[in-house]
Amino acid sequence: MRKPVIAGNWKMNLTVQEAITFVNGIKDELDAIHQVERVIAPPHVALTAMADLLGGTGIGLAAQNMHYLDKGAFTGEVSPLMLKGLCQYVIVGHSERRMYFGETDQTVNQKVHAALIHGLAPIMCVGENLEQNESRLTDSWVAGQVQAGLVGLSSTNAQRVIIAYEPVWAIGTGRACDAITAQHVIQVIRSTLSILFGEQTAQVIRIQYGGSVDVNNIAGYMRQPDIDGALVGGASLKSTWPQLTRLAVVDS
Ligand code: PGA
Repeated sequence: MRKPVIAGNWKMNLTVQEAITFVNGIKDELDAIHQVERVIAPPHVALTAMADLLGGTGIGLAAQNMHYLDKGAFTGEVSPLMLKGLCQYVIVGHSERRMYFGETDQTVNQKVHAALIHGLAPIMCVGENLEQNESRLTDSWVAGQVQAGLVGLSSTNAQRVIIAYEPVWAIGTGRACDAITAQHVIQVIRSTLSILFGEQTAQVIRIQYGGSVDVNNIAGYMRQPDIDGALVGGASLKSTWPQLTRLAVVDS
């Protein structure tokens, strides 16, 4: 019932030329996998070239970040108004943005609203750090982030949000969260969504896992009942990206 979303977050990697070469090499293979929603998130400067290259394919584009205002004196920022038409999704609240660029639950919430107003689907990231994990605070922390990030949304709008559960300690470390534990936390997220928006809406919202996902572990996540895809960093820059996406297709 929920179509899985496999999104590749390139972070600050690949020049525009490198992005063109890479996507030319994988796009036909990636486009042929219809059972999952396929998304790539290049740096802002490559969005136009990627939009040109992917026009006519079923592959979607995401921005990695944006400001929540339409325009103004915010040197270096990009607005939802500028992204509209270039991409269909935007990642908000990635832990690297929270950690290095001072994003808070409040700015994440403003970005979620701004994205929805402009017809962009937000991919809202949540996740605990190692200390919280070791102190067994994961469930309450993640539930709190979900609640704070979605403040003020109607159930109808909430259905357009994609949530990515990304434990901070699993990102870029090669130490992935095991599939059973990820399923548990994602189930906690879904229960939180049910309290906030009702069970029907909670059953519609897609929730991804992210953190050291690769070709070897993707299938294990996808077999879990509440995991609806993945947000992938490092492995989305490899030539095996289409293969990883294909491995996300689970026979029902
Ligand atoms: P990773 O990154 O797959 O390289 O761990 C995931 C992410 O940060 O979205």
